[in-house]
Amino acid sequence: MAETLTITDNRTGKQYELAITDGTIRANDLKKIKVGDQDGGLATYDPAFMNTAACRSQITYIDGDKGILLYRGYPIEQLAEQSTYLETAYLVLFGELPTAEQLRKWTHQITMHTMVHENIKKFMEGFQYDAHPMGVFISTVGALSTFYTDGKQIFDETSRQRQIHRLIAKVPTIAAYAYRHSIGRPYVYPDNDLSFTGNFLNMLFKMTELKYQPNTALERALDVLFILHADHEQNCSTSAMRSIGSSQVDPYSALAGAAAALYGPLHGGANEAVLRMLKEIGSVDHIPAFIKRVKGGDGRLMGFGHRVYKSYDPRAKIIKRTADEVFEVTGKNPLLEIALELERIALEDEYFITRKLYPNVDFYSGLIYQAMGFDVAMFPVLFAIARTVGWVAQWEEMLLDEDQKIARPKQIYTGAATRDYVAMDLRTPRQDAPS
Ligand code: CMC
Repeated sequence: MAETLTITDNRTGKQYELAITDGTIRANDLKKIKVGDQDGGLATYDPAFMNTAACRSQITYIDGDKGILLYRGYPIEQLAEQSTYLETAYLVLFGELPTAEQLRKWTHQITMHTMVHENIKKFMEGFQYDAHPMGVFISTVGALSTFYTDGKQIFDETSRQRQIHRLIAKVPTIAAYAYRHSIGRPYVYPDNDLSFTGNFLNMLFKMTELKYQPNTALERALDVLFILHADHEQNCSTSAMRSIGSSQVDPYSALAGAAAALYGPLHGGANEAVLRMLKEIGSVDHIPAFIKRVKGGDGRLMGFGHRVYKSYDPRAKIIKRTADEVFEVTGKNPLLEIALELERIALEDEYFITRKLYPNVDFYSGLIYQAMGFDVAMFPVLFAIARTVGWVAQWEEMLLDEDQKIARPKQIYTGAATRDYVAMDLRTPRQDAPS
């Protein structure tokens, strides 16, 4: 029997039967619940999308209570253990793990697109020496739309695939250039002999040596971190990607918007904020006072809490393990001790227990990045590189979804009723008006 929801409108006494599909009712079905012909019908009010599904998606599944994360059905733990970033990227985009031949072709396609137009270098040189690399990244990704004007052909499958290859391949190059710019070092061209992450390390850290040899343990650790960040269903930046993309703009412009959403400290900027927080706390003795401040509403424990996870973020568990492997090569990050103690105290504290606040992906990732030699300001950029595949996969799914249209939420208007224009000399200033 089809599942339905019966609603009685006590304004009119009428009853309505709404279909339930996949645990949801269609918000549009509520429109028929009205008190008269002039009434536009009932709507839902859901600021911050706390309980609204805006799409159907086959890409990523999260069970926040159980701490489960699957890409196309595959558990994140297995992918982190056995896959590579490029293989996972293929899976996220195309829905299946590639065969050896498919992976070879895919890797070749991405590798062949890693270089950026020389004018992009010139464009990047215009930034201040101390420009935040994430600001440079966002602007440069947006500028790609002026270089690849065929990106506008979003309904042409071949063109769309070309833009996807370009984006996945070029974001590490742009990120590395942004970093080299910020430290005043010459840009390093991609090395196509290296892996995706090996080449990225090359573009960041190569000095005068003829051939850069990445440390294999660090290269693998970065690959695992990229796998963990590849997609995370309808988070703030992905919703931005879908929403901007729904206007049918090119993917470079949409992705610049998604990256901008990621930059905020409540989202991908949290890894940077965690490091700054740990530094500010300074020593284990200062933790109780810091926790007290947070509980009093003065700031947040960055890297804790999640809209969906109400248990330990599975990515954070894997990152904690990866941290040990990295520290074996680099030596321990001195801030680790503070982070571990902070986590221990928070997980025993009533405030965090009742609110189900656990470490998220950003709590430990920054410690690893820092130990690997990344500047703190680069952390959100690293997140953006890895998430690019998720953004483009979700963007393409949105474009091909017949249910989708241009995104346009409703509002509840709470402003003034219609009134007549007042001549300047008859106006009286409002008490709270800006001077
Ligand atoms: N420290 C202290 N209190 C917190 C924290 C935190 N990190 N996170 C949530 N709370 C409290 C919050 O004050 C609220 O308490 P009350 O009910 O008394 O008002 C309650 O927990 C629920 O929080 P919320 O803000 O309503 O939850 P949300 O789902 O809107 O926010 C969040 C989710 C991730 C933005 C939030 O937990 C947060 O700000 N965390 C710190 C920033 C962070 O680590 N962000 C990275 C998220 S994971 C990576 C990614 O995908 O971006």
